[in-house]
Amino acid sequence: MKKYNNGEFRLKDVDNVYTVYGWVNKRRDMGGVIFVDLRDRSGFLQVVFNREFLKSDFELAEALRNEYCIKVTGKLIKRTPDMINPKIPTGEVELMVDELEILGEAEPVPFNIYEDKEINEQISLKYRYLDLRRETLQKNIIMRSKIAAAVRTYLNNNYFLEIETPILCKSTPEGARDYIVPSRIAPGSFYALPQSPQIFKQLLMLSGFERYFQIAKCFRDEDLRSDRQPEFTQIDMEMSFASDEDIMTLTEDMLKTVVKEIKGIELPTFPRITWQEAMDKYGSDKPDTRFEMYLNDLTDILKDTNMNVFRTAIENGGIAKCLIVKNNGDKYSRSDIEHMIDYVKIYGAKGMAWLKYDDNKFNGVIAKNLEDEKLKLMEEKFGITNNDLVLIVVDKPAIVYAALGALRLKIAGELNLIPKDKLNFLWVTDFPMFEYSEADKRYKAMHHPFTMPKNLEDFKTDPGKVLSVAYDIVLNGYELGGGSVRIHNPKMQKEVFDALGLTEEDIKNKFGFFIEAFKYGAPPHAGLAIGLERFTMLMSGADNIKDVIAFPKTQSAADLMSEAPSEVSEAQLKELGIKIEIDEGVNNG
Ligand code: AMO
Repeated sequence: MKKYNNGEFRLKDVDNVYTVYGWVNKRRDMGGVIFVDLRDRSGFLQVVFNREFLKSDFELAEALRNEYCIKVTGKLIKRTPDMINPKIPTGEVELMVDELEILGEAEPVPFNIYEDKEINEQISLKYRYLDLRRETLQKNIIMRSKIAAAVRTYLNNNYFLEIETPILCKSTPEGARDYIVPSRIAPGSFYALPQSPQIFKQLLMLSGFERYFQIAKCFRDEDLRSDRQPEFTQIDMEMSFASDEDIMTLTEDMLKTVVKEIKGIELPTFPRITWQEAMDKYGSDKPDTRFEMYLNDLTDILKDTNMNVFRTAIENGGIAKCLIVKNNGDKYSRSDIEHMIDYVKIYGAKGMAWLKYDDNKFNGVIAKNLEDEKLKLMEEKFGITNNDLVLIVVDKPAIVYAALGALRLKIAGELNLIPKDKLNFLWVTDFPMFEYSEADKRYKAMHHPFTMPKNLEDFKTDPGKVLSVAYDIVLNGYELGGGSVRIHNPKMQKEVFDALGLTEEDIKNKFGFFIEAFKYGAPPHAGLAIGLERFTMLMSGADNIKDVIAFPKTQSAADLMSEAPSEVSEAQLKELGIKIEIDEGVNNG
């Protein structure tokens, strides 16, 4: 068995004989002497094959190529001063090899592993097992394992039980699209893969387990982005007899404990803001608080302006907000600003007005049209000074938030305003209970339909005003996790289903067993789930969750290595009673 970690040898270990294993990361052939960086999970050790001292055939050493898997035995020695490499932890020592055994020869690899560079995704994912040999990916996967272990320890120490829930479930289409699995025993019937263990964990509370957790696989057939994969993992938790405050306190303590253990950082208390404050200040319910540049409100100033575009938009229920790019106006030319205008249009904005402030006055088209007194008010209210750029969007609130929220991040990226080494956690609370779905022409639950509303009585008069006892934990502009206090009173659950426009029939079909369970002494309960990949991505500094998943899928949800998804045999289909007829017009986008 392998006893030593190559990356851990130090001066104190010299003069002893060791047998070490690993992969040839890189070799340098100097004639009678060959140097190899021998890589294992822990790092590198330089091993030296000298024609004079090697007991094995020197030809064997000469045959070594990158990525050969080998076993070597020899004495660890101190490097001569001119050979010391301060860049690697084992840089003061090397192993003088007596014996070499080649355990696995390697054909030329499709890309250099020692360079540790991201390469074309088609190739790296096809040869993912080789890609995973790279130092960065090794570090990420190791960190992921350590995070999961730290979470388990924390929750085990806090009276939580780890309980697994089914992967073959009933399809309950609220939320994202389900992945479905045909049943052989009941042809024409399908299981769904769980989007989260939500229903099961609540049932476990009803069963009396009091505190549940699971590092749970979840599946969602949705459009993929850099922070989304079709299968991902949640640190999923639920507690009986617990309030929102209890869940937030415990989660915060768990996250602080894990961050301390993994990165040695002591985090301050996580700030909290309401959803409305987050939208007003940052235009996002997952704000990146590592930099300022807030959205400023202009509605009061512009509501009675003579400029029709602004006034009528506000009269029709719109709001006016602006971003102020402090002291960087000169970085943006007219054509740059035109590009920004195109950018906010992606988010539904009809346009964007802008003002530059130079030589102690506003410039730009709007400056000529907007009343002097309004300009003065803006200048004073926002403390505008020379070389500031003001970007204004007036529209329906959702559009203003989306457009300026996204532009805020884009500009901060361009101007390098985001400190990369910070971990800024933030709680966002008081989410709206319902959001209107234009596609379905009805209200949908913003979190999920089992979330406790705060003021359901307002649904009849103003559905948008109903808030929920839900909370999200945000880290550096990413939604890390979310949860809520659940409804445990069947009457209230029925009222929420009614509000969502579900008929008795729908409720019975989709959630019948779940509703039934609440009739038998349901404890109050609450919970939360954290995305393990997003957490690991932000802790490791990766910029895509693929980099913290051993075998991720591409943007089009494919596994390039095993070539999943793939067709199945006629015989398999026949067993399932399924005939394939591809509808060419189907929207797969
Ligand atoms: P929610 O849907 O907010 O809540 O998911 C919780 C967290 O899971 C992560 N996540 C994802 N990560 C990668 N790829 C995806 N496609 C993906 N979708 C979600 C995010 C997110 O914050 N059952 C509720 C939780 C609860 O109420 O207890 C739930 O699933 O980090």
